[in-house]
Amino acid sequence: MYNKKKILITGGAGYIGSHIAEQLVNQKNNIIIIDNLVTGYKRLINKKAKFINADLKNKKNLKNIILKNKIHTIIHLAAYLNVSEAESNKKKYYKNNVIGTKNLVEACKNSEVKNIIYSSSCSIYGNTVGSVSEHKKPNPMGYYAFTKYKGENLIKKYSKEIGYNFAILRYFNVAGASPSKKIGQIEKSHGQLFKNISIQALKKNPVIRVYGKNYNTKDGTCVRDYIHVSDLADIHVKCINYLFEKKKSITLNCGYGKGYSVQEVVNIFKKIKKNCRVLYEKRRPGDIAQVYANTKKFKKTLKWKPKYNNIKNILLSSIKWEKNIKRLKIKII
Ligand SMILES: NC(=O)c1ccc[n+]([C@@H]2O[C@H](COP(=O)([O-])OP(=O)(O)OC[C@H]3O[C@@H](n4cnc5c(N)ncnc54)[C@H](O)[C@@H]3O)[C@@H](O)[C@H]2O)c1
Repeated sequence: MYNKKKILITGGAGYIGSHIAEQLVNQKNNIIIIDNLVTGYKRLINKKAKFINADLKNKKNLKNIILKNKIHTIIHLAAYLNVSEAESNKKKYYKNNVIGTKNLVEACKNSEVKNIIYSSSCSIYGNTVGSVSEHKKPNPMGYYAFTKYKGENLIKKYSKEIGYNFAILRYFNVAGASPSKKIGQIEKSHGQLFKNISIQALKKNPVIRVYGKNYNTKDGTCVRDYIHVSDLADIHVKCINYLFEKKKSITLNCGYGKGYSVQEVVNIFKKIKKNCRVLYEKRRPGDIAQVYANTKKFKKTLKWKPKYNNIKNILLSSIKWEKNIKRLKIKII
């Protein structure tokens, strides 16, 4: 139905963007990717997509790309996402995540863009007790979360003036790799648990660092809702359908609705790698104690069911991809 329309993915050379591109290309969609490769990789760019090396900070260039390619739908993922780095380098994060998003929406003025899907984050909720629904008033605690929330507000603010509908997708913690074995997470600077474990899984004497063990949670370590990247990519496909059919905007949590503590994930890994050592470090700045999704609205609206929601399999899928990186000798910068 939307096959002839052009879909632009910002950050399409990154981890999540490459998985979304893979699914959309498999369904014969017309995909254009823009990315400045700051944490993205040429190897992750789908060969059937058109790639433009461009930076969100250049508004004029964005406008040209959107007009020239007659873009109809944008999936906006490009951002910096290291929670600790954001605390120490706020300017860098504001410029990229907030001004970058502003440039993108402003570049949509007088264009054919009718839909924008925005990658937001569960971190905008701040600390939560029990599962969190989309109705909860956002309370971003770290600077990264603040930039993602600012991005949401910009997408909303400009929607009427410019004339597009939006889907704000609040991702919970994304992990795993595509069953195609062709793509997965390469970048390791984001400080994410599954990536760190997968890197250690290939070592003779793995060491897992757990940041903070005195949080007010079931076992003192942080609790998160981990979603497989292929399920998350599928949600984007469903969301495009939704925007085309219903022609109205929506905000949705994207998680499975179950919280696992870091310690629980580490315990699963310890069964796979018995000689693994666990080091408990102090808390990382910007990290919240606990967040997991209430998925009621999301399941009802998209009538979607997960395919990969087994935590051990998500971990195994991440480790398998890490082995692939080594086997293929992918250069990591
Ligand atoms: N990974 C997660 O668990 C998670 C959770 C919540 C939200 N998110 C959001 O999902 C999005 C994608 O995250 P990811 O995990 O795929 O990270 P990623 O680093 O793999 O992808 C981000 C991509 O954006 C590109 N990029 C960054 N700044 C740019 C700019 N100014 N111009 C052009 N390209 C630029 C990078 O080169 C990279 O390819 C981000 O917006 C992030 O905030 C991710």
